[in-house]
Amino acid sequence: MTNIAVFASGNGSNFQAVADACKNGTIAGDVVLVVCDKPGAFVEKRAEQAGVPLFSFSPKSYSSKAAFEMELVKKLHEQQADLIILAGYMRLIGENLLKAYEGRILNIHPSLLPAFPGLDAIGQALEAEVKVTGVTVHLVDEGMDTGPILAQKPVTIDTEDKRTDVEAKIRQIEHTLYPQTVQYWIEAYKGVEKH
Ligand code: GAR
Repeated sequence: MTNIAVFASGNGSNFQAVADACKNGTIAGDVVLVVCDKPGAFVEKRAEQAGVPLFSFSPKSYSSKAAFEMELVKKLHEQQADLIILAGYMRLIGENLLKAYEGRILNIHPSLLPAFPGLDAIGQALEAEVKVTGVTVHLVDEGMDTGPILAQKPVTIDTEDKRTDVEAKIRQIEHTLYPQTVQYWIEAYKGVEKH
């Protein structure tokens, strides 16, 4: 079984989808840790309800990114995490974490990358008046939403769609695409050195 750590900053619906997929066997893994950089975010309640250990921290209370990432690596090793998945974690991963988990960090982003990277990808797509946007799952590198793409799915934006409609369509795709791609990663990377 692959030990998965989920990093999130908000609602945590993608954490929920992945945790549920681990429980029902769609993913051959267990969520062993939730990391949250926004104390009080709803994902913390979800982690508690799912019985998953939570590490909640406030980046401002550390002297540097290197300092909190070193602590995160310690927690990840304590939980024997093999894979990190970012699920609405709104922060760039720094070199300490990248080095410790090279090739083992995934991210989900609500656009067809390389279109609309960064903040508010759905707002950017609406502003650009595109007819098609979508969801991307990719490996994380040092850039902003730039690593190798593992999976993508399009979502159409119809003329009558409001922002909430587009958000709902995107979330629905995310909640199946992320578990599928995590399982794909697990199968593809089976022989990878553990912990
Ligand atoms: C998701 O739509 C995810 O793609 C996006 O944040 C949302 C989190 O929702 N991530 C990014 O924009 C990363 N650049 P959730 O908290 O309900 O899972």
